Amino acid sequence: MANHETDDAMIQRADAFARARLSDKRYGHTQRVAETAERLASLHGLDTYRTRLAALLHDAARETGAEEFLRISEEWDMPVGQPERESPMLLHGPVAAELARRDLGVEDEEVLKAIRVHTTGAPDMGPVALAVFVADAIEPGRNYPSVARLRDLAEEDLREVAAEALRRAIAHNEERSRETHPASQEALRWLEDSGY
Ligand SMILES: [Fe+2]
Ligand SMILES: [Fe+2]
Repeated sequence: MANHETDDAMIQRADAFARARLSDKRYGHTQRVAETAERLASLHGLDTYRTRLAALLHDAARETGAEEFLRISEEWDMPVGQPERESPMLLHGPVAAELARRDLGVEDEEVLKAIRVHTTGAPDMGPVALAVFVADAIEPGRNYPSVARLRDLAEEDLREVAAEALRRAIAHNEERSRETHPASQEALRWLEDSGY
């Protein structure tokens, strides 16, 4: 990658940005996602710098309130769908991506997309988005029945684990008669169309 001094400086700024905006608990999660995502990136031959940067910023807006999400989205002309109106917390990825762009000067679209779509997944997720999506689901602090299986799969193939995580999330929603976000359904269709 280009300039390592600059890369290091950006990583430090992103880390400080997340630290300043998050409780100890969520900052701890952020650090574990960053470690996990970077490890997955190096295991699968992806760009470790861009992956770590996106992971450090993915939840930077996670502690913003519902009203504030809607206000910011309007102020910044961001699209707000029906699911987001009902659960404004779904906007924490898109708002964090916009903060990264505005406050930290992140212009790398793949990094911004990884931050934007980390909650729901999306079709055409690139390698950085896949690594962050998967790391968010399997970081060492996560503890749910299928996490061990997802951790094993993550060693092999990030698309496979993303597909499996989405199938499980959709099944979980169906058991509770909850709707699945359209972006998650589209993400799974995209992966299944490629044979996952
Ligand atoms: Fe999140
Ligand atoms: Fe997260």
